[in-house]
Amino acid sequence: MSIALGGCIRGEPVPYGITEDTGGHITYILGQMRALARHPGVHCAEIVTRLFDEPELGAIHARSVEELEPGCLLTRIDSGNRRYLAKDDLRVDRTDFIEALLAELGERERLPDLIHAHFADAADVAAHVQRAFGIPYIYTAHSLGMDKLDGVGEPCDALEARIEEEDRAIAGAIAVIGSSRDECERQLPAYPSTRMDKVHRIIPGVSVIPPHANQIQQAQRLIDPFLRDPDKPIILAVARAVRKKNLAALIEAFAPIRKKANLVILAGQRCASNEGEDEQVEVVTDLLHLIDRHNLYGSVAYPKKHSSEEVAGLYALAARSRGVFVNPALVEPYGLTILEAAAYGLPVVATKVGGPVDTVGELGHGLLVDPRSPSDIGVAIERLLDDNALWSECAANGANNSRETNWARYADNFVKLARRTLDTSVGVNCRAGPGTTHLFVSDLDNTITGCTDGIERLRAFLHDNPNFAFVIATGRSLVEARRIMREWDVPEPVAWVTSVGSEIYWNSGTGCVRDQNFPALSKVQWEPEAVDAIMAGFPNIQPQPGYEQRSFKRSYFFSTQEEVSEIRSALRMADLPVRVIASHDRLLDILPASAGKAAAMRHVASVLRIAPEKIFAAGDSGNDEDMLIECRNAIIVENHSAEIKKLTSRSNVYLARNAHAAGVIEGIEAMTRDGLSAGVAMSGARG
Ligand code: GLC
Ligand code: MG
Repeated sequence: MSIALGGCIRGEPVPYGITEDTGGHITYILGQMRALARHPGVHCAEIVTRLFDEPELGAIHARSVEELEPGCLLTRIDSGNRRYLAKDDLRVDRTDFIEALLAELGERERLPDLIHAHFADAADVAAHVQRAFGIPYIYTAHSLGMDKLDGVGEPCDALEARIEEEDRAIAGAIAVIGSSRDECERQLPAYPSTRMDKVHRIIPGVSVIPPHANQIQQAQRLIDPFLRDPDKPIILAVARAVRKKNLAALIEAFAPIRKKANLVILAGQRCASNEGEDEQVEVVTDLLHLIDRHNLYGSVAYPKKHSSEEVAGLYALAARSRGVFVNPALVEPYGLTILEAAAYGLPVVATKVGGPVDTVGELGHGLLVDPRSPSDIGVAIERLLDDNALWSECAANGANNSRETNWARYADNFVKLARRTLDTSVGVNCRAGPGTTHLFVSDLDNTITGCTDGIERLRAFLHDNPNFAFVIATGRSLVEARRIMREWDVPEPVAWVTSVGSEIYWNSGTGCVRDQNFPALSKVQWEPEAVDAIMAGFPNIQPQPGYEQRSFKRSYFFSTQEEVSEIRSALRMADLPVRVIASHDRLLDILPASAGKAAAMRHVASVLRIAPEKIFAAGDSGNDEDMLIECRNAIIVENHSAEIKKLTSRSNVYLARNAHAAGVIEGIEAMTRDGLSAGVAMSGARG
């Protein structure tokens, strides 16, 4: 497989559609393309971009082919216009660029198998290549326009045009990749062309090389001239000087706590505060006024230029000073800087609008704030500065938990996704047929995941027993379930029961199709507004993030069992036909009474015409309870949560001695051996 579309700005390679004004994406693309080139499944990773001949920007940009490392090429296409063009100007020669690219590809002996387009303009180029040569493309959407429309600014023609272009990019792609849950499950679905089965989440890597001592000194020299007491903790922000990054609010937040720390703002590169793009000039002028108004001289550093080494040095310096990284953006689609800060062991205060919700939620390295409230931002910064234990915990969480977030892992998942999307035959044998006699429904997290050997044995079992239809039943959304399954190499199921049994998707071979008959609309009584109204009476119960609130599911965080009982009785008093499910001492789901994993299992079985005694189900926690009670052949893995311990003595339950997938396989084999059902081949011999 080979992958393409990418360029090179100031000595750093970037794809077509990415220019130096699209910020952090340069290191992003380099990291990912290098990792893909190193992946054994990739023959060549090629970045394609415009050639331009402006020696003051670097003679290298006029070279048509450059080998970045073995298997990683940079190809520059001469569109005829040899001037450097900024992002917003690329359109003027796109047609010529496409024509030149098509001509170049036409000369090749071996064409790429797949194109990975970043941003919608590159996707437009890819769409032309697709039409001419039949090479499909995967689209990674960055900084989606629709969200800008919602988050900030007035609609304007340019933004409308961009949104339309993004929609076309989505429509033509064989798969669309997002980095955060927010992108995948809130931003992308807002586009008319988005089909959820094409949306996949792959967590990007972060390229962090521990800075040399001299880099740290270099960073220190960059900020020293601004600061009266350079030894104070550093509050660091790295963001382009655009309004949505909301840097003014950070200065407002900093003013009252100035005695405790210094503020360092890297707001892009500039020659002078009154030179550059209009928006940049306005934003920088605003910042200077605010510094002046609050008389912050000697406490704020705002260098006008910086190198990537200095940025790395500053992250390290800020961490060493027990400082805080702040991203106060009004909306942040993903927020690579939040991840970078984590890798340097620097706690963060980040906007709760957009990607940081999952990054900070998953890594546990900081606090989320309302970006529109400077006092909220200030209080959070101060908490981290004052609470030593909290600071240390966040720093350690960031450093430890971000280790998994690397480009090699991204490349691995990208290749799996690419293979699966290119080879549509893989899914076909996962469709139930006339030979399907048994059903095996399993929870995902901690029931299957956690044991790679067990997952291999599960694969072998399903291979040897094609009469078993395998169904995943999870609390996660479809996108998240598929991401986890890709990461763990869980076999492709016949169907996905998702969002705690409130949605069902069937595997169509090429994708997944939502079952519109579940929950049966004729039977379902569901008044989410009434649920919300009752829950508003429990101010201590926080709702889970917006994307967890689904068409038939409301989700919250709780802390005590008493709260759960009170909620149950409040809902009962209101006579709402709902099911309340508590899991892991923390998560609370409210569903229509006719939904849930048991109801979904029953629905799948009736569609596949499988009798109750031929159904097996496995689980480990609270949201599996109804399914484990109802299923005649239920398996509880050894590593189950306390909340379902009470079920382990039931006569329909097999309590496995093994944990995770190994326990599941142990259970199926034991139960089928005991003659509970016939026609099962054993995979135990495979060890
Ligand atoms: C998954 C869902 C969450 C739910 C939990 C327990 O983690 O994402 O919303 O509360 O499962 O059912
Ligand atoms: Mg589980």
